[in-house]
Amino acid sequence: MTKSDDSFPVKVDTLLCAFGRNTEEQFGFLNPPLYKGSTVIHKTVKSLENHEGRFYYGIAGSPTIANLEEAWTKLTEAAGTVISPSGHGSIALAIMSVISAGCHILVPENVFQPTSVFCDTFLKRFAVEVEYYDPLIGSGIDKLIKDNTAAIYMESPGSNTMEIQDVPAIVQIARRNRVKTIIDNTWATPLFFKPHSFGVDFSIEAGTKYVGGHSDILLGLVTANEENWPTLKNTYNCFGMLPGAEDCHLALRSLRTFRLRVREAERKALKLAKWLQKRDEVDKVLHPALEECPGHSYWVRDFQGSTGVFSIILKPKYSKASLEYMLEDMMIFSLGYSWGGYESLIVPLSEEVGERLKARNHYGYGLRLQIGLEDTEDLRKDLVLGFERLGAFEFDLPNGIMDLRCATLGHGRS
Ligand SMILES: Cc1ncc(COP(=O)(O)O)c(C=O)c1O
Repeated sequence: MTKSDDSFPVKVDTLLCAFGRNTEEQFGFLNPPLYKGSTVIHKTVKSLENHEGRFYYGIAGSPTIANLEEAWTKLTEAAGTVISPSGHGSIALAIMSVISAGCHILVPENVFQPTSVFCDTFLKRFAVEVEYYDPLIGSGIDKLIKDNTAAIYMESPGSNTMEIQDVPAIVQIARRNRVKTIIDNTWATPLFFKPHSFGVDFSIEAGTKYVGGHSDILLGLVTANEENWPTLKNTYNCFGMLPGAEDCHLALRSLRTFRLRVREAERKALKLAKWLQKRDEVDKVLHPALEECPGHSYWVRDFQGSTGVFSIILKPKYSKASLEYMLEDMMIFSLGYSWGGYESLIVPLSEEVGERLKARNHYGYGLRLQIGLEDTEDLRKDLVLGFERLGAFEFDLPNGIMDLRCATLGHGRS
């Protein structure tokens, strides 16, 4: 498809190939060039003073940023998109678009940790009252709404503990009370969950993850529905929080293979998650597409698929030292933050998440797995060997003894 034409509706695979480029403006080249810059030259004083033209100065955007914005707006079926230099930045931007001094906002307990840091520190300076709620609360959120409630923030599934939220129920209550809704939709991506079609006002995607897909960019995208688009755009303009042109260019390039990568991550992650359910070392697998995941029925009802990130909880008998021994010698899985790239990653869940899991009667250590595009059989073998290391020490040992044991077994820490 060489022309983008709204009178010729196309399916998502075709859209991903078609949007964000215009061959005629690109001297016939298939892909758009990369525009970097601050100054845009005007031909007349009137044009300069009135900020005429599609682009009048770099801070107001560039063709490269606009290509990605337009593509994302189409994919998410939103009224508009703004792009910032990280997912974290996008979260702050979306929240800043709806709050005012002294208001009250509702945030799920399992929210991405930097989001709660932003709420507990920065927002406190504006006397914003932040109240954390059980992500499985559903329509029970009604009881938490106050006269000054400005917004309900959602993240579904939530970070690490993976609870799926009843988004339609929460949106219904929010609308009845004239409260704005924001969702961090990074895990599902608009390919598997379209927040605006469920009535959510603002949706955030950390483009760093599946949009970029190669762990080489940082980016955040926020969309809004018709009613809230002017507010989002005005807030964005106040902050001047523009993304790097190269990151947008790479993101647009990655969008061509977005669905292929996400589908493949889904297939591989599900295969491994089902295998992990049967392992003796594992107490629970928290993967939204599996019945044992809290809120699974909402995933079945509302989502079109699952992606490559999930958590497992180990049996309580394993010590921290055994866990470190397992994780530090993995052959394919690396220890590292973020997710959504082509490579598999594994990270232990924080003590704070551990405390929340204990409240649900899970006393073992938790791990988050990001499944990349490697061969599933290789990944499985890596985990089998990891579990063997885990099982080699089933009780807490002082560090010195631990090192001695590792040395005896010939496993140096790398
Ligand atoms: C659910 C979720 N939202 C947002 C972000 C923030 O993305 P970024 O790393 O681009 O700041 C992350 C990063 O890990 C995340 O897991």
